[in-house]
Amino acid sequence: MTMMGLLHSVALSIQFLLLFSSSLFTNCLTLNDSTTTHHHECHQHESNALLSFKQSFFISKSASYNTFSYPKTVSWIPTTDCCSWDGIECDELTGHVISIDLSSSLLYGSMDANSTLFSLVHLQCLDLSDNDFNHSQIPARIGHLSQLRHLNLSQFGETTLSVIKRLHLKESTLRSLIQNSTRLEQLRLNFVTISSSLPHTLTNLTSLQILSFWQCELHGEFPIGIFSLANLTYLNFAENQNLQGTLPASIGNLTNLAHLILEDNVFHGEIPRSLFGLENLVTLDLFSNFFEGRLALDMFLKLKMLNVLDLSFNKLSLFSQNRDVNVTILPPIQWLGLSGCNLNGEIPTWIMNLTALNCLGLSRNNLQGEIPYFFFKLENLTILDLIHNILEGQIELDMLSKLQKLTILSLGGGNKLYFLEGKNTSNVTIPSQIQMLDLSSCNLVRFPNFIQHLQELTHLYISDNSIKTIPSWLWNKTTLESLEISNNLLMGEISPSICNLQSLIYLDLSSNYLVGMIPSCLGSFSQSLQYLSLAGNKLTGNIPQTYVKGNALQWIDFSSNKLYGQLPRALVNCRMLEFLDVRHNHFNDSFTFWLGSLPKLKVVSLRDNQFHGAIMCPLKYTFPQLQIIDLSQNGFSTKLTSEIIMCFKSMIISNKRQLDFKDEIYLSWNVFINIDLLSFSMFNKGVVMDYLGGQYLHHMVAIDLSCNEISGEIPDTMGSLNGLVVLNLSNNMFSGTIPSSFGKLSNLEVLDLSLNDLSGNIPQQLTGLTFLDFFNVSFNNLSGPIPENGQLSTFDENSFKGNKDLCGIRLLKKCEDHPKLPLQKPDGDQDSESGSFFELYWMVIVIGYGGGLVAGLALGNAFAVDVFRLLKKIF
Ligand SMILES: *[C@@H]1O[C@H](CO)[C@@H](O)[C@H](O)[C@H]1NC(C)=O
Ligand SMILES: *[C@@H]1O[C@H](CO)[C@@H](O)[C@H](O)[C@H]1NC(C)=O
Ligand SMILES: *[C@@H]1O[C@H](CO)[C@@H](O)[C@H](O)[C@H]1NC(C)=O
Ligand SMILES: *[C@@H]1O[C@H](CO)[C@@H](O)[C@H](O)[C@H]1NC(C)=O
Ligand SMILES: *[C@@H]1O[C@H](CO)[C@@H](O)[C@H](O)[C@H]1NC(C)=O
Ligand SMILES: *[C@@H]1O[C@H](CO)[C@@H](O)[C@H](O)[C@H]1NC(C)=O
Ligand SMILES: *[C@@H]1O[C@H](CO)[C@@H](O)[C@H](O)[C@H]1NC(C)=O
Ligand SMILES: *[C@@H]1O[C@H](CO)[C@@H](O)[C@H](O)[C@H]1NC(C)=O
Ligand SMILES: *[C@@H]1O[C@H](CO)[C@@H](O)[C@H](O)[C@H]1NC(C)=O
Ligand SMILES: *[C@@H]1O[C@H](CO)[C@@H](O)[C@H](O)[C@H]1NC(C)=O
Repeated sequence: MTMMGLLHSVALSIQFLLLFSSSLFTNCLTLNDSTTTHHHECHQHESNALLSFKQSFFISKSASYNTFSYPKTVSWIPTTDCCSWDGIECDELTGHVISIDLSSSLLYGSMDANSTLFSLVHLQCLDLSDNDFNHSQIPARIGHLSQLRHLNLSQFGETTLSVIKRLHLKESTLRSLIQNSTRLEQLRLNFVTISSSLPHTLTNLTSLQILSFWQCELHGEFPIGIFSLANLTYLNFAENQNLQGTLPASIGNLTNLAHLILEDNVFHGEIPRSLFGLENLVTLDLFSNFFEGRLALDMFLKLKMLNVLDLSFNKLSLFSQNRDVNVTILPPIQWLGLSGCNLNGEIPTWIMNLTALNCLGLSRNNLQGEIPYFFFKLENLTILDLIHNILEGQIELDMLSKLQKLTILSLGGGNKLYFLEGKNTSNVTIPSQIQMLDLSSCNLVRFPNFIQHLQELTHLYISDNSIKTIPSWLWNKTTLESLEISNNLLMGEISPSICNLQSLIYLDLSSNYLVGMIPSCLGSFSQSLQYLSLAGNKLTGNIPQTYVKGNALQWIDFSSNKLYGQLPRALVNCRMLEFLDVRHNHFNDSFTFWLGSLPKLKVVSLRDNQFHGAIMCPLKYTFPQLQIIDLSQNGFSTKLTSEIIMCFKSMIISNKRQLDFKDEIYLSWNVFINIDLLSFSMFNKGVVMDYLGGQYLHHMVAIDLSCNEISGEIPDTMGSLNGLVVLNLSNNMFSGTIPSSFGKLSNLEVLDLSLNDLSGNIPQQLTGLTFLDFFNVSFNNLSGPIPENGQLSTFDENSFKGNKDLCGIRLLKKCEDHPKLPLQKPDGDQDSESGSFFELYWMVIVIGYGGGLVAGLALGNAFAVDVFRLLKKIF
């Protein structure tokens, strides 16, 4: 797993804690002045309204996420005073219902636009968070509740199945709410899908104290006036991704601000100096934005309450050593995230004086030298992430013996560390609570034995070492959810005992020397497995034939082995499958049109096998989400028809956002929360999520049919697949003309039609393909002038040669005269060249898709430079 992902996950988990804590403790507490003693019976119409609201929902055990959930509405009985019901509070004087707290009440059902709830116009507090409203819309009538002071409609979810049961909120409803409910003090809409920009009228709500819009798909400009709301204490807009803005100097006026959480957005500009005067600031989480500028350690000295500081992944440059700072007065930081912060030199020594440190993330910097010994004395450390630096030296197991609270340890990935277990481990007290361990590229030659004793281990990354065998005790570690042993020297067969690991979500054994058959149980041993890669081994035989119904597989990579036979039809049971790669094997099968029934399949590569026969596509196999199909280097023959092209109609787009991978690829972790950070350790069942790559692969849409025996004309309808970025039809037997409809492929960056029997002119329409970056029509029978204007004029002779009747300034043959220039078709050389180009493209695709995850695998240094050049271009 990428470590950016890891820290990100952890940061999220902190947020869960924050959110739960605030939703538990600060909402709908008694609004009454407890000294008044009048008691009023509840009004009948309000009682009826509540009962009818109750009746519009079921009680469902899975509707709430919080472990303390219970069905509050069970106490709502018609014959009793509604003011005494669980979750209800009435005004002491008027008897009107002023507060409804149904958070975590196991409610299941849709919100009704005419719900009686909205007739309770005296409501000052409404908390419906953590129920399952079945993706329904928040009714516009919520704007009638003009007395509201607290509103919480946040949703949570069991992310194991990546299901957050989101409510939806129309922008117009949000506007009317803001317009009418001018007394709002607390507004929490976490995980409510809003999908618009934030109304600037929010800044009219001058009483606001808590504003929380985590993951609401907000975009556009953040209303800067929010930073003028003087009473703000808690501001959370994490993970809206396209929300942009800057922090104004006036933020320094928010003297009550305790939590500022802007993680994962596109805020930019400098962090104003005035922010560092906010003495009540407890959380400053700016993870993954575009903040810039230089920060020095002494700037933090006034933040005497600061507990959480996460500045990771911005464009900031940070202090490293600060000799002049009085380190005894550093804030009591427990969480320090400085990954990707351009830290140079040795690990800063002032970190040793943060004695309360819980979590430390320093990955992806340029830190060098040895890991200082004081790290191993920070007894409260639970998370230590140092990957992707240039640290060196030895780490011995017994050095870890003081760190008994460690739950996440990641040392590998890019460092030059040597991890040594020592001869006598029986005496060493290991940090037995480790749940996530990354010892990748730690110069290991065998599997460390102590791992056997980590009873809580869920995630083990031990790739890029020189391990030859897997000890059999590993198969007894049934708590494992992730296991990555890629890029080692593993030999022999894969033990069928691997199927004991029934909690696995993620399994990567790629790039080893594994031989023999794939254990047949591997297709069906686990309901949770989402990612399976056995790529780059020497496996033979058929791939597993059985895949249980309801399995969770999203990603299957069997590429670069010696597998043969047919692709099992049972793969249609993998309803969640998005990525299937079997390239570079010996599969011998007809076109696997039946994969077209998989609702989420986006990427298929059958490249370089012995698939054959017609590419066809019966009616019900529609490939509804297909974005990339690579069928090259097989034996496919016969014609392409318009019907087949329509099989790829998912590549017709009206809006690039359609191709967004986000929200759909989630790997989930039931991870590691026993951080007593901010002292609400009661939630030890945190849920964290992490998506793969996501936003990087915005626009990759590709068809590669090269190196087959496909004949006939290229159907004109191909020009309607306007999402295409890469189209490679080279080295086939296509005849007829180049469809002028290709001029409509406005996203096209790569077009290769070389080595066919195409004739006629190059259509003038192609000159309008402004993104075209690679173009090749060489070795056909094209004739006439090469269009001299537009994009085509940027390609040299190599793009056009081998067409004896083509003329133009790019070729020796000018268009005025017609000398015969005999040119022979070369035999295959050209092809292997274009093959490698596309292979490269594939790598890019895979990297893009997998984020850092697969990068280690795909990024052999040999072509890293090219890949980066392409990456830069593509993303
Ligand atoms: C809500 O009430 C209006 C008018 O009373 C009615 O037209 C509408 O159909 C109702 N909507 C629903 C969802 O019941
Ligand atoms: C504002 O509240 C009033 C009184 O409750 C209501 O009549 C009106 O429709 C509300 N406006 C909006 C836009 O909801
Ligand atoms: C609310 O804000 C808008 C624009 O920001 C402004 O025009 C309007 O007068 C404000 N309303 C109130 C009641 O302050
Ligand atoms: C801000 O909080 C203070 C103290 O609680 C209160 O007196 C004041 O009215 C609040 N301001 C607004 C605009 O609500
Ligand atoms: C808020 O901060 C700005 C800049 O720091 C300052 O000029 C302004 O006077 C402050 N406003 C208030 C109301 O304190
Ligand atoms: C550092 O701060 C402490 C506590 O305020 C103080 O006692 C000490 O003298 C300071 N040291 C220096 C070198 O200023
Ligand atoms: C900082 O920590 C180191 C190591 O624990 C200690 O020797 C040093 O005295 C500390 N400095 C201050 C000023 O507390
Ligand atoms: C470590 O945590 C414990 C329990 O929270 C606390 O009592 C102790 O003081 C902490 N140690 C340090 C060095 O802060
Ligand atoms: C364990 O450690 C103690 C003290 O360090 C040492 O005396 C003893 O020999 C060790 N035991 C073994 C089995 O090495
Ligand atoms: C694995 O666990 C089983 C049952 O608990 C036990 O019998 C076996 O010895 C274990 N194997 C190893 C290699 O630890």
